[in-house]
Amino acid sequence: MEVTVRLTVNGQPAQGSAEPRTLLVHFLRDTLGLTGTHVGCDTSQCGACTVLLDGHAVKSCTTLAVQADGHEVTTVEGLADLVPPEARIEGLHPLQAAFWERHGLQCGFCTPGMLMTAADLLASKPDPSEAEIREGLEGNICRCTGYQNIVAAVRLAAEHLRSAGVSPVGASGGTTLGDAARGGAR
Ligand code: FES
Ligand code: FES
Repeated sequence: MEVTVRLTVNGQPAQGSAEPRTLLVHFLRDTLGLTGTHVGCDTSQCGACTVLLDGHAVKSCTTLAVQADGHEVTTVEGLADLVPPEARIEGLHPLQAAFWERHGLQCGFCTPGMLMTAADLLASKPDPSEAEIREGLEGNICRCTGYQNIVAAVRLAAEHLRSAGVSPVGASGGTTLGDAARGGAR
């Protein structure tokens, strides 16, 4: 039996059929065609699948599509649109620009999840210490970079966002599915 899931994705209304057991990541990738969200494991450990649900990072492989019904999801495809145009850097979200500037990626597989987790982190901690960034990203695994440049990128993005005076997640935020689904960065 399939049900209709209606939600807002990257600011636009979206809907599709899903079985009650369908994971949000598969709904986003296979039903909505948003393949920027990656699947890197089957144990909820890697964080490559992280998206924002009502402004908070969740692992979309640990969230059912039906749980997102009526909610607002942001994937990496919609990240830049969370900040006003004047706060973007060459059309990119400050986090994306900082990952570019600080070489915070190599193969890029982990990057969408890193960006979305970092956005949630900077929304609650606009000026995090290096230790706080490392703790905030501990639920996201990168097999390439050694993390140093990712941390540097998040620090640079934090500077940009503070000087622009904008939130990395825009006006989104609100109800969440609770800590079990958030799993997100932890
Ligand atoms: S795909 Fe690895 S945590 Fe979701
Ligand atoms: S850049 Fe390759 S896994 Fe992180």
